[in-house]
Amino acid sequence: MSLVGVFDSGVGGLSILDEALRQLPEHDYIYLADSANAPYGEKSSEWIAARSLHLCQFLARANCDAIVVACNTATAEAIKHIRAQVNIPVVGVEPGIKPAAMQSQNGVVGVLATEATLKSDKFNALLATLPSECRFIKQAGAGLVPLIEAGKADSEETLDLLAKHLEPIQDAGSDTLVLGCTHYPFLRKAIRKLLGDSITLIDTSDAVVRQLKRQLETLEQSKKFANSSKQEHGAVRFISSKDDVALRNMAQDLMRSDLQLHDVSSTPLELVE
Ligand code: DGL
Repeated sequence: MSLVGVFDSGVGGLSILDEALRQLPEHDYIYLADSANAPYGEKSSEWIAARSLHLCQFLARANCDAIVVACNTATAEAIKHIRAQVNIPVVGVEPGIKPAAMQSQNGVVGVLATEATLKSDKFNALLATLPSECRFIKQAGAGLVPLIEAGKADSEETLDLLAKHLEPIQDAGSDTLVLGCTHYPFLRKAIRKLLGDSITLIDTSDAVVRQLKRQLETLEQSKKFANSSKQEHGAVRFISSKDDVALRNMAQDLMRSDLQLHDVSSTPLELVE
């Protein structure tokens, strides 16, 4: 089977890894978190593009057969460059505004994402393809990622900040909310507390993993992985640019999957900035 690299600025991509382990437990994974540099969402396009490319090149050199850029911000700013430079399949993640427009009953959709994602050409090009009858209330979730990184997703502090960010979305009468950052599925409980159960939450991790599955099937059909002799599957190696052990502990707290872990080894120096 295959080795899949999953990359995010921090712990957000664990929401995608969790879904990947549920749908594709037969593969092995490297989860790479650039927590020393999170959040990406308030950094420049150039910085995000260069750093994301550097990390994906590392994953390709670590023998990954495919990469998931499990970060909306890095996908928006860098996926074009990554695909041009890295010679393995690269799957990205985008805010689910299209399924949201299809599912919304009243045509008012909230989009909570990072500032960089909302400003990006890629996001705005996607937005321009959607019917103008649907109104999107875009809100940057400034400050939320650091709280989630600090393990405070369910804290009062997070609830207060989230309430401020969700106010315009709520005031506009949105019946659907796009979780446009992979960190935000970890705020589900807090969002439900603030907005109730009737709002539809759109999270694209299922679609991203289905796309990964198609890519891996194509690779396997090309016989590259036939008769793999690897014994161990569904194992995850966690690498963080900040603290590998802390990342692994966070993963165990945040994810539903039972984790089969590789020993934590020290972060390769080239990832430390
Ligand atoms: N998890 C990320 C995303 O999906 C990045 C958040 C950040 O680092 O600002 O956008």
